[in-house]
Amino acid sequence: MIKLVLLRHGESQWNLDNRFTGWHDIDLTDKGRREASNAGKLLCEAGFEFDVAYVSVLKRAIRTLWNVLDEMNLMWIPVIRNWRLNERHYGALQGLNKAETAQKYGDEQVLVWRRSYDTPPPPLERTDERWPGSDRRYAALDADEVPLTECLKDTVARFLPFWHETIAPEISKGRNVLIVAHGNSLRALVKYLDGISEEDIVGLNIPTGIPLVYELDDNLKPLKSYYLGDQEELKKAVDAVAGQGKA
Ligand code: 3PG
Repeated sequence: MIKLVLLRHGESQWNLDNRFTGWHDIDLTDKGRREASNAGKLLCEAGFEFDVAYVSVLKRAIRTLWNVLDEMNLMWIPVIRNWRLNERHYGALQGLNKAETAQKYGDEQVLVWRRSYDTPPPPLERTDERWPGSDRRYAALDADEVPLTECLKDTVARFLPFWHETIAPEISKGRNVLIVAHGNSLRALVKYLDGISEEDIVGLNIPTGIPLVYELDDNLKPLKSYYLGDQEELKKAVDAVAGQGKA
């Protein structure tokens, strides 16, 4: 039985402040660090062992992974960081408060920006300091690969090559894989794995710091998936994410 674990980072300071974050590199809150350690405990209790971990190049995900590996006594395993696992770029919304944005533009418009498959938020200008084109960690990318904004469809398009070329072959070799990433980059992967339609993906919200386990067949098709931990807490956490974009 192949098992794959997906984990969204713990609560970040901008999750707490309810600000659109995207590629902004904000750290975890103390609660976010505890969520990450707790995820590590849950994984240990459920008997997981990992051979390799994949993570974005954003510190809220990297620190979450560090806490998980520390808790699991697995700090020695190989860790591969890649920008393709980054959060969806939130364009000109990055830094704005989600509820205030909903007051200004309406809940419906914010839902479209947050959850629609193919409508991106308004783009940044390349001169905007929020455009990460001169950030050294993205130096190997072509300028047009560094997004000015992204809808989920764009995130799927840049995440899946990394899945197919790097992660999936490792899983097929029998390695136990952990992926630590972000709300929308994981929605991109879940959409692909579960074959969720463009309409239904609007209703999918991924909570911070709760391990999502996939059991896969030999072709890496999901047999089932489930979150670890208390299912009441899980429901509250998912509802809280859904409610963040309301006025
Ligand atoms: C962000 O980038 O603001 C969050 O990580 C995900 O936000 P969302 O749930 O509003 O898409």
